[in-house]
Amino acid sequence: MVNGRENWASKIGFVLAAAGSAVGLGNIWRFPYVTGEHGGAAFLIIYLIAIVLIGYPVMVTEISLGRSTQKNPVGAFKALAPNTSWWLVGALGVLTGFVILSYYSVIAGWSLAFMVNSLGGFPQGIEAAEELFMGHITGVGTPILYHAIFMVLTAGIIAAGVVKGIQRAVQFLMPILAILLVLVVLRSLTLEGAGEGLAFLFAPDFGAVTGNTFLSAVGQAFFTLSLGMGAILTYGSYLSNKDEIPGSAAQIIGFDTGLAIVAGLAIFPAFFALIGTEEVAMESVGLVFITLPAVFAEMPMGTIFGFLFFLLLSIAALTSAISLLEVVVAYVIDEHHWPRTMAAVVVGAIIFVVGIPPILGYSTWDGFSFAGMDILDTYDFFADSIFLPLGGVLTSIFAGHVWGTRNVIEEANRGNVSFRVGYWISPLLKYVIPLGVFVVMVFGVLEALGIIG
Ligand code: PHE
Repeated sequence: MVNGRENWASKIGFVLAAAGSAVGLGNIWRFPYVTGEHGGAAFLIIYLIAIVLIGYPVMVTEISLGRSTQKNPVGAFKALAPNTSWWLVGALGVLTGFVILSYYSVIAGWSLAFMVNSLGGFPQGIEAAEELFMGHITGVGTPILYHAIFMVLTAGIIAAGVVKGIQRAVQFLMPILAILLVLVVLRSLTLEGAGEGLAFLFAPDFGAVTGNTFLSAVGQAFFTLSLGMGAILTYGSYLSNKDEIPGSAAQIIGFDTGLAIVAGLAIFPAFFALIGTEEVAMESVGLVFITLPAVFAEMPMGTIFGFLFFLLLSIAALTSAISLLEVVVAYVIDEHHWPRTMAAVVVGAIIFVVGIPPILGYSTWDGFSFAGMDILDTYDFFADSIFLPLGGVLTSIFAGHVWGTRNVIEEANRGNVSFRVGYWISPLLKYVIPLGVFVVMVFGVLEALGIIG
């Protein structure tokens, strides 16, 4: 422990926790439907470029900022640039953690509910599957109950601490997640008609690319890697000087990207095998909640696979949710000296309340519309298309021009590194990421809001 701050109890602790943060609903729920919305393989290519050019440098930067300051996001910026306004970037991250976790927990709650429902077997046919999903999300009491259960699990782990809570949970849950995923993918790939799904994922159609495609790819890159809001920075703050950054960042990214593609392999073949057309809600938040149950209903041992899939999705969501809550909790512990348990309970309760409007957006408040989006989509849009890219831009400007890339590189290469981060990171942090992401963000947002065509 440095200054009374906990450190990961082993090297694998950090990598597993960060990979657990990265792998989540973003890979299994969000990646397939956003990829579907933007035409499949063409989106995948832009997304992969964003992962390499933006994801890796920003991840190295966030971990370095965390480890060198041993602070939460607000404290980290304050420590490196005292008496300036840069701490606001950390504050934006804390706010983003709030917003993301509030609706993230709602979706994770759907997953828990489906896990329970799966035990009774899913109904036959895609219409019935759609009815089941719509019936669930347009309810009020049940989604709120599952959202509450998920927040209690999340806050419980965070209250137990970094090593006894987070590290213990990820060491137990991540291997289970990997095994479950392999099982589900093998099943999906051996369905008849799976080939069309593979073609969709791997044969690009650049006709579907618009300005908004780029923003969606960049937003998805930040979201899936947990970047742009200080989650990885916070996890990095529990890293010791002995542990390496360059290789860990590469492992985390490799794991996350591999998992997104594997999730695509589980979902698109099933989608095309079963539905064969794109008529049914490929682009909706319901993709994995409608298509997969319909597949499970038809396949041998579908009840077991259905249960395993939603168990997997819930576990993936949980290991990400704890990292979102940890950002806010670390902030109130460090900056306002709250005890950890109180921080986890109070912050968890507030986030629970903030998550209620997205639930009501499918029933009582279904009249709400922001540029054609319901409440949950609106939260997701702000988080993903504005807050995370903006946080990423500001973090890289800070690293490139205020803290200095020399310091980033020195911190990143400390310890027993398997390879070193070189000066190539400098132009990326200073110019390419700030300008590139900013331009993509402005055009993408204007297009999404219908201001430009
Ligand atoms: N990376 C997580 C996912 O893909 C979501 C997340 C975003 C977690 C930002 C932490 C911070 O589901």
